[in-house]
Amino acid sequence: MGVADCHNFSDFRRLAKRRLPGPIFHYIDGAADDEVTYRRNTTAYETVDLVPNVLAGVEEIDMSVEVMGQKLAMPLYCAPTALQRLFHWEGERAVARAAQKYGTMFGVSSLATVSVEDIAAINDGPKMFQFYFHKDRGLNDALLERAKAANFNVMALTVDTITGGNRERDKRTGFTSPPKLTMGSALSFATHPMWAWNFYTKPKFDMPHLSSHVSEGTNLATSVGNYFSTMLDQSMNWKDAEKLCADWGGQFALKGIMSVEDAKRAVDIGCTGIMVSNHGGRQLDGSRSPFDQLAEIVDAVGDKLDVVCEGGIQRGTHVLKALSLGAKACSGGRLYLYALAAAGQAGVEKALGNLRTEIERDMKLMGVTSIDQLGRNNLRFH
Ligand code: LAC
Repeated sequence: MGVADCHNFSDFRRLAKRRLPGPIFHYIDGAADDEVTYRRNTTAYETVDLVPNVLAGVEEIDMSVEVMGQKLAMPLYCAPTALQRLFHWEGERAVARAAQKYGTMFGVSSLATVSVEDIAAINDGPKMFQFYFHKDRGLNDALLERAKAANFNVMALTVDTITGGNRERDKRTGFTSPPKLTMGSALSFATHPMWAWNFYTKPKFDMPHLSSHVSEGTNLATSVGNYFSTMLDQSMNWKDAEKLCADWGGQFALKGIMSVEDAKRAVDIGCTGIMVSNHGGRQLDGSRSPFDQLAEIVDAVGDKLDVVCEGGIQRGTHVLKALSLGAKACSGGRLYLYALAAAGQAGVEKALGNLRTEIERDMKLMGVTSIDQLGRNNLRFH
């Protein structure tokens, strides 16, 4: 099975599972505790039905949207995710190039393996920087300055990782970054020789935004939960977010808002967007799914900032359902990460292409020619 045979999310997941050493696959695939929230993030879309209209003359479809000042050719973008060099040796470069090709945005994490400067050199489209608020204020200042100097368009402060989520799959597999050579991991590398060859022979693993500031997360193998719990600042509060928003002075979002109260406070501190997200179910298990929570947040703040629905998206119809409820755009991580692991840039392009084709087909079947024609009148809750 190759990329050409990957028609949907599950196909890419299956291929990624084959290509990646177990600990790395399970790092992407896993979530917190019993993974209830993780599963609900996707099944939530099944609690709502689309009600199509017909005879609408749909040969020309415009699926472009504007979100946080960025014009996107499709209403879905690649959410920022960490450590992409572990999944494929091209890492963030592959995602940057694929996103550019599809005219959509993508995010680069503070915990990325390619620098914002290198990414800016290969992608002049809309780019988001994902900020993790560290105890080290010098590091925080450097992150902001570098993202600004590299002309990133949107700053997203992660607010749902104040401590590490309980990722039991990572505990079981002993996942660390960079991967530690142990008896168990050596066996998984030996049985995935292509991955191991690429990991050890291609340019060395690095976390260029952190390397001059911290040893954790660069050459010292650590778990992601441990990194969050020890390196990030648990005293982070609304004052810090407000200051960061002012210091950035441009499009600014909070990534990981779930309550109406917090969405309103995001408006108060000057945010231009929020991602309704539970971090892919990787932090607080039992938290509500973004799609379930979307309507009440859109109703409260949808006219004051851009609401993005992030999480669980596997199909074009999921995107249309979220947009119908009032999201300005959707984003996701695993929807392109399995594809990255499966085949690098070609994989991510195929994944985005599949979703683009689905969104276009689904819009035609819904009888709409532009995104603003979608609304709650075309949804029915069970
Ligand atoms: C994670 C972080 C790094 O969920 O976003 O693993």
